[in-house]
Amino acid sequence: EWAERGAAKILREVTNPETGKTTKHVVKKGIKDFIFGDTLGDGSYSTVLLATSKESGKKYAVKVLSKEYLIRQKKVKYVNIEKSALQRLNNSRGIIKLFFTFQDESSLYFLLEYAPNGDFLSVMKKFGSLSEECACYYAAQIIDSISLLHSRGIIHRDMKPENILLDKNMKIKLTDFGTAKILDPEPDSTDSFDLFSRSKSFVGTAEYVSPELLNDNYVDFRCDIWAFGCILFQMIAGKPPFKATNEYLTFQKVMKVQYAFTAGFPLVIRDLVKGILVKQPDQRLTIPQIQKHHFFKDVNFKDGSIWERPAPEIQPYKV
Ligand code: ADE
Repeated sequence: EWAERGAAKILREVTNPETGKTTKHVVKKGIKDFIFGDTLGDGSYSTVLLATSKESGKKYAVKVLSKEYLIRQKKVKYVNIEKSALQRLNNSRGIIKLFFTFQDESSLYFLLEYAPNGDFLSVMKKFGSLSEECACYYAAQIIDSISLLHSRGIIHRDMKPENILLDKNMKIKLTDFGTAKILDPEPDSTDSFDLFSRSKSFVGTAEYVSPELLNDNYVDFRCDIWAFGCILFQMIAGKPPFKATNEYLTFQKVMKVQYAFTAGFPLVIRDLVKGILVKQPDQRLTIPQIQKHHFFKDVNFKDGSIWERPAPEIQPYKV
């Protein structure tokens, strides 16, 4: 049942050589239609492999989840959340595309868009940090994508550089919606969601977790904005703002909003980060305020140009 609804139904045209008549056949895609290659990434309960379509030669990323493990670890719920979130967001700019899902006796499979330039953490690690121009280019796409998923009623809850992939044109693609929160549409409106819906379970990664989750054990969509502030800081500083030798000490720093800008950190980005890394969620900058900030003065968020302009050459930040 799990895979039935998501399974791709491919229409293949077959022409009968004798009658010349063309008919369409429904063919369901399965793992037999792909050649599996290198491991692209490992999650806590999944592995992502490169997969090449035997028919078209097109490359995909296939996320493989062991059914036995999912059941034993009680993670089945998260797989279904990931599938629902990706389906709700499908064909959205800045979000990894889910083509279809299928299963066999042992595993569940998500056939995802392949992002050949890897993840944003690897890029930052390779260069140490990013120039202001690069930070602006990537930060604009990241905040635009967060804005989009919030407008569709989804909170990511585990925004971090590892979950930001890069496509062939170095455009960002958010991934890993296994810990997302999907909000119900408001009963009385067609197109808005209760973004303040509070969620109680612990999710996220220590360095990017918001203080409200640690203090009051709740998060709403503003946790993704907090994480965005941490990622923006990291682009320039080369390390996240709240980092300690262990999770406990990291949490202490987050709760006290204890971080320090590195020497020469650009003033305009300091100002923006300071507006985002605010303990009280209701005093934190909102997405429209972030987009209007001086740091983005040359960025037009309305005309789609952030997704069209070529990626700047990657260079580290120089004081
Ligand atoms: N690693 C995890 N998911 C990936 C994807 N969709 N493309 C490339 N690498 C990945």
